[in-house]
Amino acid sequence: MKELLYEGKAKKVFCTDKPEELLLEYKDDATAFNGKKKEAFRGKGELNNKISSKIFTLLEAKGTPTHFLKELSDTEQLVTRTSIIPLEVVVRNKAAGSLVRRLGIEDGMSLHPPLIELFYKNDDLDDPLINDRHALLLAEVTHKELMTIKEKALKVNDVLLEIFEDCDLSLVDFKLEFGRTEGGDLLLSDEVSPDTCRLRDKQTGAKMDKDVFREGTGELVPVYENILQRLEGATCAK
Ligand code: C5P
Repeated sequence: MKELLYEGKAKKVFCTDKPEELLLEYKDDATAFNGKKKEAFRGKGELNNKISSKIFTLLEAKGTPTHFLKELSDTEQLVTRTSIIPLEVVVRNKAAGSLVRRLGIEDGMSLHPPLIELFYKNDDLDDPLINDRHALLLAEVTHKELMTIKEKALKVNDVLLEIFEDCDLSLVDFKLEFGRTEGGDLLLSDEVSPDTCRLRDKQTGAKMDKDVFREGTGELVPVYENILQRLEGATCAK
């Protein structure tokens, strides 16, 4: 029996035989609005496992260290154990979602240079937007670590823009999480998938991410399948 360490909204985390490694199991559950909307979609866990594994492999190849080690099965992957820093680091290339609601700016407005926002990862508080000083206080990161996290987030943005460009997708925004290894190194952790990114088809502008579930405008699984197919066909993945 695998020992369950933690169960989140989209993944379960298990211990392995090695203390420095963990097993992530992707669930079929989709949630939105901090768990207020919830539904299971058969095959979603497998798709996100495959999509995130592919993206983390490409990020590693382009020089961004991540927690990803290898895919173990359709829904499971092996990762380096990190202690997650309770920050959601959002990078935005175009205005959408909570930014539009908060500031009343036009949906789709280009953001140059990209905007970085920090949210305090806390379900009871609905993950509030915070500034750097709040992060130093609440997330127990040092100033140097926070600067490194922002630099890494922008580097990830550059690589993701290139990957999704190859897939004929426009990357609107995405959320990252970072963790600290036993040795104190910062590693990109969690996942990068259509659950955590906003993607638009470059030709039609169609939403190709969890917004179809959030907004109830389409079928989630075929959209995620389409993203995986495009990633598998991308020239940068060859
Ligand atoms: O909701 P908001 O517009 O702030 O989301 C920005 C980006 O962060 C979106 O790509 C969304 O999918 C992602 N996000 C996430 N997990 C959260 C909040 C936002 O993956 N808890």
